Order: sequence, then structure tokens, then C-alpha cells
Amino acid sequence: MTMEKKRKVGENMGRNSPGKNRRDVISLVYAYIIYLIMLIMLIVMVIAKWESRQMDKNVDLDEGEECSKVVRKMRFDCHPENGASELSCIARRCCWDPPIAQHNEAYEEIQVPYCFYPQNWHLYQYERMNETSGEFEGELKNIASSFYKKDIQVVGMRATKIDRNILRVRLENRDNPRYEPIWPIINTYRKKSSNNDSDYEFHVNKMKPGFQVRRKWKKNLIFDSLSAGGFIFSDQFLQISTLLPSHNIYGLGEHRNSLKLDTNWQIFTLFNKDQPPTEHANLYGSHPFYMIVEESGACHGVLFLNSNAMDIILQPTPGLTFRSIGGIFDIFFFLGPTPHDVLRQYSSIIGKPFMPPYWSLGFHLCRLGYGSLEKTRQVWNRTRAADIPFDTQWNDLDYMKNSNDFTYDDDKFKGLPEFVQEIHGVGMHYIPLIDAGISASEGNNTYPPYDEGVHQDIFIKDFYTNAPFIGKVWNRVSTVWPDFTHPNISQYWYIMMNNMHGQFEYDGVWIDMNEPSNFYNGHINGCIQNTFDNPPYQPNVVGNLLATKTLCMNAKHFGGLHYNVHNTYCMGEAVANYRAIIKIRRRRPFIVSRATWIGQGHYSAHWTGDVYSSWHDLRMSIPEILQFSLFQIPMVGADICGFDGNTTVELCNRWMQVGAFYPFSRNHNSDDTIEQDPVALGDLVIESSKKALMIKYRLLPYLYTLFFMAHSSGSPVLNPLFFLYWEDKNTLDIDRQFLWGKGLMIVPVLEQGKTEVKAYLPKGIWYNYYNNTGIISTGQWFVLEAPLDTIPLFIRDGIIIPAQAPSQTTAQSRKNKFELIITISHPSNENPSGSLFWDDGDSIDSINTHNYLYENFEVIDGNKLINTWPNYNPNIQEAVILGQIEVLGLARSVKNVTVDGQEIDTFTYNESTKYLLITNLHIDLSRKFQVMW
Ligand SMILES: *[C@@H]1O[C@H](CO)[C@@H](O)[C@H](O)[C@H]1NC(C)=O
Ligand SMILES: *[C@@H]1O[C@H](CO)[C@@H](O)[C@H](O)[C@H]1NC(C)=O
Ligand SMILES: *[C@@H]1O[C@H](CO)[C@@H](O)[C@H](O)[C@H]1NC(C)=O
Ligand SMILES: *[C@@H]1O[C@H](CO)[C@@H](O)[C@H](O)[C@H]1NC(C)=O
Ligand SMILES: *[C@@H]1O[C@H](CO)[C@@H](O)[C@H](O)[C@H]1NC(C)=O
Ligand SMILES: *[C@@H]1O[C@H](CO)[C@@H](O)[C@H](O)[C@H]1NC(C)=O
Repeated sequence: MTMEKKRKVGENMGRNSPGKNRRDVISLVYAYIIYLIMLIMLIVMVIAKWESRQMDKNVDLDEGEECSKVVRKMRFDCHPENGASELSCIARRCCWDPPIAQHNEAYEEIQVPYCFYPQNWHLYQYERMNETSGEFEGELKNIASSFYKKDIQVVGMRATKIDRNILRVRLENRDNPRYEPIWPIINTYRKKSSNNDSDYEFHVNKMKPGFQVRRKWKKNLIFDSLSAGGFIFSDQFLQISTLLPSHNIYGLGEHRNSLKLDTNWQIFTLFNKDQPPTEHANLYGSHPFYMIVEESGACHGVLFLNSNAMDIILQPTPGLTFRSIGGIFDIFFFLGPTPHDVLRQYSSIIGKPFMPPYWSLGFHLCRLGYGSLEKTRQVWNRTRAADIPFDTQWNDLDYMKNSNDFTYDDDKFKGLPEFVQEIHGVGMHYIPLIDAGISASEGNNTYPPYDEGVHQDIFIKDFYTNAPFIGKVWNRVSTVWPDFTHPNISQYWYIMMNNMHGQFEYDGVWIDMNEPSNFYNGHINGCIQNTFDNPPYQPNVVGNLLATKTLCMNAKHFGGLHYNVHNTYCMGEAVANYRAIIKIRRRRPFIVSRATWIGQGHYSAHWTGDVYSSWHDLRMSIPEILQFSLFQIPMVGADICGFDGNTTVELCNRWMQVGAFYPFSRNHNSDDTIEQDPVALGDLVIESSKKALMIKYRLLPYLYTLFFMAHSSGSPVLNPLFFLYWEDKNTLDIDRQFLWGKGLMIVPVLEQGKTEVKAYLPKGIWYNYYNNTGIISTGQWFVLEAPLDTIPLFIRDGIIIPAQAPSQTTAQSRKNKFELIITISHPSNENPSGSLFWDDGDSIDSINTHNYLYENFEVIDGNKLINTWPNYNPNIQEAVILGQIEVLGLARSVKNVTVDGQEIDTFTYNESTKYLLITNLHIDLSRKFQVMW
């Protein structure tokens, strides 16, 4: 390689590490194999060099001149593998310019590739092209061989307008279809735009393969592969590079890093892996999507729809390279121009997030290693007894019998079915864990999930024997994996899930180990050498082998080789569960998945996996969660107080506070740690948890409304500041605070020993949630007081937030009267506004059948609150009564309040805090009303 690879992460430090001794032996074997491969590569290079001299008469390269034209920052890496030399570089017809040894240059310089593409380097030329108003169709013929085997000879290239602001560009093998992921189901019908116009221009250059996409407005380039070069389309190496219009790039997850990505020679590897969140490592999910805030302030998004293992390289040019080892180039451009526009456009292609059941927005409690029903019940009981708002009790692996799916331990967890009934009896819910793998070593006819799976032939198969592929996870001896691309899988999964529901009536599903994770690297003895496990180019995956802690790449699914299917495995599992739950419960599914893929938010939520109980992990949880706002998976959270390692009172105290504002709030920890449910940690954590969760429960009608908007339009639930204030450059790097919608700013304390926190408040008035005082900001940093029991919260001006008095469960709080929190904006003629979505919170089809209430609220002339479109549906069983209104920042003294013209006297106005409180109302929100003050 000619680019320093920064990362060398050790093996998994988490819960799933295989034995250490085996690893040493394996590393020795690897070292030997790598040595052999390098030897072979050297021989191949010598031959390649000789060959290239012989045959490439049609590629004339005046090396010296072409190379010197490429300035350092325009270098794109021509030799991403280890062991570059002048010989191997020139064999690729690339330029060689290594750093001079004694040169004492900046670290950055070390990473500049020293084998790079010259300006006129290309392997294809146009045979044919056909351009019609913004669309394009053409063929590229291969004219020189890449270093990688089996170059695609004729590449069909097509640019299609999907909407005026969505462009799709595909490059595929014209002669033979190649693998394309079956998920997400891409919504590609052409939108009927009223005119033929588009916001972009698409350009090609007859002399060179590649293309440019330009924003019509100001002619800004948003993608430019013509100037970057290095386009390769071979069987197992696909590469396209582009210049980027700015350094403000976000996305490319799942990774642990700052929300705004570092463009200084960074590799982002996408290959789903059971890997506790660590910097510079491929983690559980793959989302080859990015968003850029251009220098002009306009934003766009790009999706590279390709499910193979890939490296994405960011360099300071600024430039980007997609480098995948299979599939085709299928690239979508979303022209924005605002961040929310980009996200809505993205969601229109990959699918919009599922509507979560109302109860799932409450607090969840879990741990690995309660060890018994008695202990589970004890923790459940003490949490409730402490009056902490609490909706869902969970069990991790240890509830199962011998760690086998679809069973429960009828000794240690004897009475689980009755306990679940008891939970239901108080309006709460219960969720168990399900692993992806199925035990393969129970006795004949003792474990139907295995027998039935063999009978129906739905397990992933070994390449050589066609028998189920065998590895091991938590099961005692061995494990096989369901093939979620198999046509019969839905029925199989439904039967298993239904049998389990017959034993105990769980409410949601927690799908774990679905990268899929394996304790072996392939089989117990690894994988037999093959072109999929040992591809010509190896993305920078943790463990250095694709099969590290997963299946061999040549394992067979109905829908293709594991090599191609791997990153989408979790999506198939989520879909199967989603369908099964609808059939079994006839209620809205709630599925939480560790691994995720493009569009998976349509079926499941996500938690960020095995995070560590440390201040660093608490701090990084904010960008980890916010990146999923880009990926259309809004229902997300980190394990509150940390999963691995022992938490502390202070850490858990701060983590419970911010965790209350994760959309998915679950406290969960591992079996070798101290207890960390709030009560176990004492009064401070109990009080903080109660205080923060009471606020969450109070504001749930607002959060639920935000989820409805995400579900119906793709707008995010959690906003990083730049989603709303991207024109304010100060916000582009902020990832320690975030907003619910545009109304509630959350400023968590993320450092030990602090009772103050620095926060950026964009221009406007920000009302302190706790005492209603407004802070006027011109777009500034503030140091805010944050006593140990308090998380700073602010409400933006010009907003109306629907709320409800909190109770201990959502089942109870849903019955309370509604409240409206109104903030006045000064000096501005902007009318405060907001909306409310409300339904029964759990039925599958309330939205399709219009069994819901949706209305807008607005304050006109600063003193008249009205609602529009109450859109009442009589099928809503519960009354929707507004009981209280608060108006913050009201400068003019209030003497008189009327409701629909009738004077009332249940209000107070505080001159000094400019605060109006109207209580004891009984306004039916399903009808039009008017309140004046
Ligand atoms: C070129 O485009 C036109 C208009 O879309 C179409 O009718 C024609 O068939 C295309 N030609 C080729 C060779 O694809
Ligand atoms: C907790 O358990 C005690 C003793 O069994 C019982 O009296 C109490 O009602 C329980 N509390 C809750 C909230 O379940
Ligand atoms: C289970 O059944 C298979 C196939 O019928 C048979 O080959 C195997 O010996 C049986 N195993 C045991 C432990 O009975
Ligand atoms: C957590 O603390 C307990 C009690 O001090 C100790 O036994 C245990 O080993 C610790 N666990 C970890 C993962 O450090
Ligand atoms: C409200 O709280 C903030 C932060 O604690 C404090 O600075 C301010 O003085 C308080 N205002 C009132 C009116 O108590
Ligand atoms: C309050 O407003 C109503 C309607 O405008 C008016 O009739 C009434 O006199 C007012 N009351 C007071 C105390 O100002």
C-alpha cells in the first residue's frame, strides 16, 4: 500500500472474543500465507510489467510529463495494496514518487500516495453515446488491462432522471448481469414532475471515461470523476474517484468518528462486523451514503448502492474514492438543496422509517446476566417502586435454554410466561433477545428450529458440501444460519416466532449477532483458500480477513454468495421478523437490530452495540446516534451507562440524563459488570433518571409527532445543529449537542467532574426548559450551569410543542390531558407554530386507514392560538383534551384570557419571567378552537 493505514485495531475486546491461543496459531498461519501471497504478487508484477510494455500500445504515456502535472493533493492512490514498489507501480502505468527518506515532512505528507494515477490514465473509451435532455446512455469499451483480473469488457453506462432533484447513474456489465443487492427495494418509478426540468446537469467527456454532475444553480460541481481518474471495473475490484466540492462531509457509517468526517487521508471500511465501537474500524452496519454541505451553502447527498465489502477513502483534495470488490456502480445523487431536502429525497428511494409503537418511546431496562427470573423481577420491581418512568423490561441471552433461540430456561426462568402477563397487566411490555444463528447440535427430533430448517432446506450452505454451513456462536457445540434470501424463510421464521409467542407473549424482538457474527473465522478450521475469501484486493477490515468472525465468503445463500450478500443479511432478518410480528401480534412491530443496511429503518430500530462504560464512549454516543439520522434509522440509542466494563455513579448519572433523550432509551450492561439499573446506583442516579425521564415522558407527544413526520416524509427526528443551521458555519462541526425536531435543544454533560457545559446556541432566543428564561443569542457559545442532577435543555423560539403530564408508564401518560408549550420569537413576525400527531399508538394500519388525529397549531398576532385541520377521526377511543397552555417570552402583560370567546380566570402571568400559564382547560383537540390572551 502506498497510503499509510492508520488503524490496526486488535481483535474484538468485547463479549464475543474467541480464545486467544487459537488466535496466535492463526496469526502465524496468516503471516505465512501473506508472505506467500506477497511472493506471488511480486512475480505477477514482474510479469505484468513485462506484459504492459508489450501490449499497451494504445495507451501512450509520456510518464515524466504526465506525472509532474499531478500536484500532490491531486494524487489518487494507484497501489492500495501493501508492498508497492517502483516496479509494481509502473506495471500499473502509474507514477512513482516516494517520499524522500531524510525529508522531515509533516505527518500528513506520509499519507500522500506515492504511486498515483497520471492525468491521462484510463482503461476505457466510449464506443457509443446518446445524450438526450439531461439523460445519457452509452457504452465503454475496455482498451487496457487493469492490474486486477477480469476487466469488464463492455460497460453499459446510463444516467436516468428519477426526479428533478434525483439522478441515478449506473455502470454495469453490458454482456452479463452482475450481482445487485435485493434490498432495499428501490423505489425507482419516475416521479411525474410537472416539467422536464432538473436541478442538475450531467456531463461526459468523449475522450475519457467518467462523468460530472453539476448543480445548475451557480454551476457548482458536486461530483467529478473526470478530473480524479482511476476508474476501474474488473470482476473483484471496482473503483471510482471524485473531487468533492467541500470538506463538509457526513455519513459513510457505521463508524465511530466525529459527525463531520475527517478528509485527511481516512479510510472508511464498510463490512458488517461484530466489533465494539472503536475508531477506524468497520462496525455493525454499512451505509455507503454521504451528505455534503457545499461552500455555497447548498447541500447534496450521494448513495453508492453496492453491498460488497468496500473501502471509501477521503483525501484532502478534497476527494473521495469508492473501492468495492463486487457488484456494479449504481450511484444516486440527491440535489437537496437543504439537509432536510436531501434526507427526504433519500428516503423516497430507500424507504421511510417504520412508525414505532408509542410504548417503545418509553424507558427500557435490560442486562445480560440477570441469571434468573427472580433477579429480573427484582430489578423490574425496584425500578417501578422508585417511581422511575419505565415501559419495557428485556432479557438478554441468559433467559434461553442453552443459549438456543425460541426457547426459555424453564429452570432459572421458570414462570417467565406468567411474569410477561404480569408486565402486561400494568401496561408495560417485554422484549427478548434472538440471535441469528440456530443450534446445530441438539439431539435428533429435540430441537425443531434445526430439524425444520434442515427439512425445509433454508440454512446457508457450505460451498463444497452443500450441507448447512457450520460455525459457532453461543450454542454449546455448533451453529447454522438461516438464509434470509430463501423464498421459504418467511414461513419458517413465522412458525418459530409464533411457537415462541405461544410460550410467552413477547411484544418486540431484539435481533443480535446478525452481521452475522461467528466465533470462528469461517469454519472451525477457517476457510479453504478461494477467490472470495482471498480476493485480489482486501478492504481494510478488522482482522484482515473478510471471514474474520463471520462466515466464509463462498458460503451459499439462495440469493447469492455470502461475499455479495453479507452486508444485507441483517436486512433480510429484519424483514422476516417484521412480517412475522405483524402476523403474530397484529400490532405494530418493534424490532431492534445490531447490524443494519441501507433502508433498514423501514423495518427496524438500532442500538449502537457493545459500547464501553467510559466517558469517551458516552461522548462518542452523540455522533454515533446522529449519523443514523442520515441513514433514515431514527429509532436509535446507545446502551445507557455503557455495556462492557463497570460504570460509575457519576458516569451513569450523566448517561441516564442524555440517554433519556435518545429516541431509543435503554439501560443495558454485560454479565461481568456491577449492576447499573438506576436503583442499584443510589439516590443521585435515581433522582436524575426520574427527572430526565419525566421530561421525556412529558414531551413524548412531540417526539411521537416527529416520528410520524419521519415515517411520512423522511425528515429526521434528531437533528445535529447543521441540519437546521447549515448556513451558520459554526454549526458544521458540532456533535456534542443535538435537537429533537427543531424545537428542543439538548446539551448533555459528557465529561467527568463538570457541572458546567459549553454550548452553542444559534441565532435566536433559547428558553431554558427549567425556568422559562430566554437567552438571546447572536450565534454564540455559552457556558451553562449543569448541576449533577440536571441536563441543560432549551426550547427554540417560535415553536409550539405538544406535551402531556408524565406518568410512570406511557399507558398511563397517554391518558393525561395535553399541554402546549408556546415560545414567542422577538423581534419577528414569525408566528409560533407546531403540530400534533395522535393515534392509538400501536395498531398496524392506523395511518393507512386514517384512524388518527393530525393538526397544526399557530399563534397569530402574538395573542391568538388557533388549530387547523383537526382532522378528527371518531375511531380514536381516547379523548384528546387540552388541559394547559404555557406561553414563554410574552412581553405584553396579560389581563384577560378567552377560550372560544368565553373569558376564563384560570391563568397567571409573571411580568419578570414573561411567562403566561393557563390551566384547568378542557378543550377538545379534535375540534377547532381559539384561545386569546
Ligand atoms: C438514443 O436516444 C433516443 C431517444 O431517447 C432513442 O430513441 C434511441 O433509441 C437511442 N439510441 C440508442 C442507440 O440507444
Ligand atoms: C414489588 O414487590 C413487593 C413485594 O413482593 C410488592 O409488594 C410490590 O407491590 C411490588 N411493587 C411493584 C411496583 O411491583
Ligand atoms: C440423527 O439423524 C441423522 C439422519 O437421520 C443420522 O445420520 C444421525 O446418526 C442421527 N444422530 C443421532 C445422534 O441419532
Ligand atoms: C466490576 O466490578 C466488580 C466488583 O468490583 C468486579 O468483580 C468485576 O470484575 C468488575 N468487572 C469488570 C469488567 O471490570
Ligand atoms: C434560570 O436558570 C439559569 C441557569 O441555571 C440561570 O442562569 C437563570 O438565572 C435562571 N433564571 C431565573 C429567572 O431563575
Ligand atoms: C376581556 O375581554 C372581553 C372580550 O374582549 C371583554 O368583554 C372584557 O371586558 C375583558 N375583560 C377585562 C377584565 O378586561
